[in-house]
Amino acid sequence: MSSGISGALVDVMKKEFETYIIPKGWEDKIESIEDWKKFYQSTVNSKEAVVKWWESLANEIFWFKKWDKVLDDSNPPFYRWFVGGETNLAYLCVDWNLQKGRKNKVAIIWEGEPVDERGQPKEVRKLTYYDIFRETNRIAYMLKEKLKVKKGDVVTLFLPMIPELPLYMLALQRIGAAHSVVFSGFSAEALAARVIDAKARIIVTADGLWRRGKQIKLKEIVDEVVKICEKEGHKIEKVIVIKRLGNEVPWNPEIDVWHHEILEDIPKNVYVEAVPLGSEDYSFILYTSGTTGKPKGVQHSVGGYAVHLYATMKLIFDIREDDIYWCTADIGWITGHSYIVYGPLMHGVTVIMYEGAPDYPDFTRWVQIIERYGVTIFYTTPTAIRMLMKQPEEIYMKYDTSTLRIAHSVGEPINPEAWRWFFKVFGREKTCTSSTWWMTETGGILTGHYPGRGKILPLKAGTNGPIFPGISCAVVDEDGNICKPGERGYFVITSPYPGQLMTLWNDPNRYIEVYYGKYKHKGWWFYTGDYAMIDQDGFIWVLGRADDVLKVAGHRIGTAEVESAMIKHQAVSESACVGKSDPIKGEIPVIFTVLKHGYLPSEELKQEIKRHLRATIGPVVSSDAIIIFVDSLPKTRSGKIMRRLLRGLIEGKSLGDITTLESEVAVEEAKKAYEMVKASLEKGTSSE
Ligand code: WTA
Repeated sequence: MSSGISGALVDVMKKEFETYIIPKGWEDKIESIEDWKKFYQSTVNSKEAVVKWWESLANEIFWFKKWDKVLDDSNPPFYRWFVGGETNLAYLCVDWNLQKGRKNKVAIIWEGEPVDERGQPKEVRKLTYYDIFRETNRIAYMLKEKLKVKKGDVVTLFLPMIPELPLYMLALQRIGAAHSVVFSGFSAEALAARVIDAKARIIVTADGLWRRGKQIKLKEIVDEVVKICEKEGHKIEKVIVIKRLGNEVPWNPEIDVWHHEILEDIPKNVYVEAVPLGSEDYSFILYTSGTTGKPKGVQHSVGGYAVHLYATMKLIFDIREDDIYWCTADIGWITGHSYIVYGPLMHGVTVIMYEGAPDYPDFTRWVQIIERYGVTIFYTTPTAIRMLMKQPEEIYMKYDTSTLRIAHSVGEPINPEAWRWFFKVFGREKTCTSSTWWMTETGGILTGHYPGRGKILPLKAGTNGPIFPGISCAVVDEDGNICKPGERGYFVITSPYPGQLMTLWNDPNRYIEVYYGKYKHKGWWFYTGDYAMIDQDGFIWVLGRADDVLKVAGHRIGTAEVESAMIKHQAVSESACVGKSDPIKGEIPVIFTVLKHGYLPSEELKQEIKRHLRATIGPVVSSDAIIIFVDSLPKTRSGKIMRRLLRGLIEGKSLGDITTLESEVAVEEAKKAYEMVKASLEKGTSSE
């Protein structure tokens, strides 16, 4: 078992196992590994210990009604947390803060992308907790009274990074409805599939957004979606449009309505009850990619999700009243749901939100924002760090980032070099910095350093750190035997925890199969799909995906999804999508493509296929994809595509290396396939 990316990382990461890094100013807060192990064990060594740990955290948040039982594990893997308890995410993030005296505290500071001649942002919006209370009540009222949205309904949000996105999320939570947020980099076809699967009859969108100086249209995509849905027999009743750019947009008066117009007659003081929801009601679904062509609707709970976020904000981010908290993710992905919206707002801090990109108008955009607001907690991705690293350090050092206390990363493995740069240039060597590991399915963070107990373990460059208290994970081999420190294996989660997904939307069997199928014989072990190592201290080192899922710039992309989009193009007979390691984006998709009889490889056709990918999945895939025409795909006798061979080839591995990787293929067969693809690759390049 080997993929290009994780194979190379093993050695690099192993070198860091025993290099302990103590951030400046934390010298007297370092905990011994022995003490930590004792503490961690005390939270996981029995079911009672686990229950006690999570119950004590659950007791710190607001409940309309407390639970009868902390964990019901009688029907695994459908675990139920805080059974009988009642709470509401909107209440926790809004009303609860008003009660705590945070009425006029700034909840969200938002910066748009365009800047004036002095380089200052042209648009800054500051919303207090009271503003959010009023606006979400008005939106909730409108949804409930005018559009008849009720508990359990799903509304799709296809929005850019503007404050209305969290406002709609919270308004939906208020009335017990669920959101399905779709990242704005998806195409009409991809969005339509998600709308239909969720049975959403209302879509909220905007006229567009700014990104790297360009205006990007969104409303037009939704118009397409409405048509596709209609063809599929699914009726979209309303499209609510938020004015971001102020341009003319195509309009269908029967369906479309402006956000500001539909709210116009709703009084400022309208109040809608934040309904008490069962802890085990669902709060949202979020589609993510897996190993089959169809995206999975990950379904999250109310109470368990809330407690997990509360706990990780407290311990991993050591959140405090006066923190200025900034997570650079897009709310279209889980990181934004959990750690821009619900987690930080539940703790009543001031959250920064921005529109645009880290390198526009120039590479100092982020350090400028940190300096401008005195950001204290920063959460970002390795891809962005590697992109910024390309510029000389001095351009960043000119700005004051000394306010940062915590600076974590997420989304993909961080190579030690990037970690060190981030720690030095952003963290000034005094931040607690960890690579927090988790997934859409886990709801919140599962591994990482946690300064919130007042002490930390020493840092290590690139590690995912210790496992969060109350959670059990392991690194195991194919059969489920525990790996020794430094051995690469599969990362599994061996116990239930509150943030975990409830199920896959409308597909409980797939939920069992996808996550619990691999280690059935071991009981209920959750297979993450990641390769990892554990070190002598019990720190986790995730190395990358072990399955056919790519992480491109931290975005999760299913190769099967790409392949099924490819065969919809008239010229394509078949294709195989594999990841190629990339110094900045971590991985990029390379698509080996066989053309149908009668089509000849050409640069034009390549571009046309890329446009097709853009239309079927969206720029999220097409902008980085590399298409390579080949005469045929190498297959095993049983017809399986030799993906490792293709991956090895694009990583420049030698024939010797590749034949040893292809365990299920005879050496001779692999050799033949290698020569064949190589020959057609060479032909492919010369034909351009
Ligand atoms: C990867 C993102 C290494 C991993 C929150 C996982 C990471 C997938 C890390 C989930 C990290 C996430 N180090 N790898 N700190 N964090 N991953 O669902 O492969 O978009 O399985 O959730 O991202 O991606 P997802």
